Amino acid sequence: MKYFIVTYGCQMNVHESEKIAAILENMGYQLAFSRNDADIIVFNTCAIREGAEDRVLGNVGNLKKLKKKNKDLIIAVCGCMTQKEQTAQNLLRKFPFVDIVIGTFNIPNLKHYIEAVKNGRQFELYNEGSLDESLPYKRSDKDNAWVNIMQGCNNFCTYCIVPYVRGREKSRKEENILKEIKEIISEGKFKKITLLGQNVNSYGKDLEKPVSFAKLLHDICKIEGDFKLSFMTSHPKDLTDDVIYAVRDEEKIEKYIHLPAQSGNNRILNLMNRRYTREKYLSIIEKIRKEIPNCRITSDFIVGFPSETKEEFNDTCDLVSKVKFDSIFAFMYSPREGTVASKMDNQIDDKVKNERVNKLLAIEKKLQKEAK
Ligand code: SAH
Ligand code: SF4
Ligand code: F3S
Repeated sequence: MKYFIVTYGCQMNVHESEKIAAILENMGYQLAFSRNDADIIVFNTCAIREGAEDRVLGNVGNLKKLKKKNKDLIIAVCGCMTQKEQTAQNLLRKFPFVDIVIGTFNIPNLKHYIEAVKNGRQFELYNEGSLDESLPYKRSDKDNAWVNIMQGCNNFCTYCIVPYVRGREKSRKEENILKEIKEIISEGKFKKITLLGQNVNSYGKDLEKPVSFAKLLHDICKIEGDFKLSFMTSHPKDLTDDVIYAVRDEEKIEKYIHLPAQSGNNRILNLMNRRYTREKYLSIIEKIRKEIPNCRITSDFIVGFPSETKEEFNDTCDLVSKVKFDSIFAFMYSPREGTVASKMDNQIDDKVKNERVNKLLAIEKKLQKEAK
């Protein structure tokens, strides 16, 4: 029996697919070369932008043929997209040949759902819960081991679906994180550890005995062994000086910070509920550059947020030109159902969004060339 997993979205999902792989292998499945020779296909989905969801729908739809050929093929769809009740129901209506549709919190029970399907049932489930820490991972990268330090997000940036599909922030206990990393290091296979969280800087605030993110970094660096440590993602409103100093002082920490700005204009930042200003953002960059001169800095931007004017977009271009990031990701704003921004007036035309994203990327490309 063979399995195939198709993963969309961020590193969090890539890592979660490693958990899905471990569950399937424990059940006796082996990795298939392609979806064509699999007995079970799992889609681990992303809901961050409409494009991501469209890709999933297209690819799931294409499986109808495979299912016709192989009646016993099991198709499961899980992840952020199916955590939305409406989407999960639509998916089953549109693609009745899908066997399992489960949300982000139901992955630990995947084995149980698969067994139920083998006994002739179909599954649809998306409820609140917390992820089981005891499940193993089948780590898929050669050099890097992902380590989740927290789930969910409390920030509710007005454009973002993540808090709705991943729930509220929940930090793992520091001792469990340290234990997992010690095990990874002692295995000797991985040279790099990357800590994952939607907003790693707020790690530990919700714990019974609060632990700061900077302390976690220092404690990890005390673990003996030859490894490099990095983390993502940082939120500018929470990136404290002690984290910058930890990156500066700890040899094991990579000199790299991904610090999404999203916009260079204060009115838009406020509408996005980012809770920092352009000036604050620039002052953090200045601080990082002063303390860690060789630090790589990258960022994310959204263009065409509702009501964004040409001048306000130009503020974003100006910020990108000023900071000279090592690289940036630029996204066209995509309205997500249920978020505050999707109900705002003055949604921007796709054509304008497209022009803006191309302009921003052209500026970035020019800066890259000049830097070489
Ligand atoms: N937690 C991280 C990343 C979240 S998603 C953070 O706070 O930065 C990764 C990126 O997707 C975001 O940084 C943002 O630039 C982009 N993004 C999120 N929602 C989006 C939307 N509705 N439309 C377009 N881009 C979006
Ligand atoms: Fe989304 Fe904002 Fe949370 Fe990042 S910090 S996951 S952009 S709500
Ligand atoms: Fe990640 Fe997409 Fe979910 S970016 S958290 S997989 S919505």
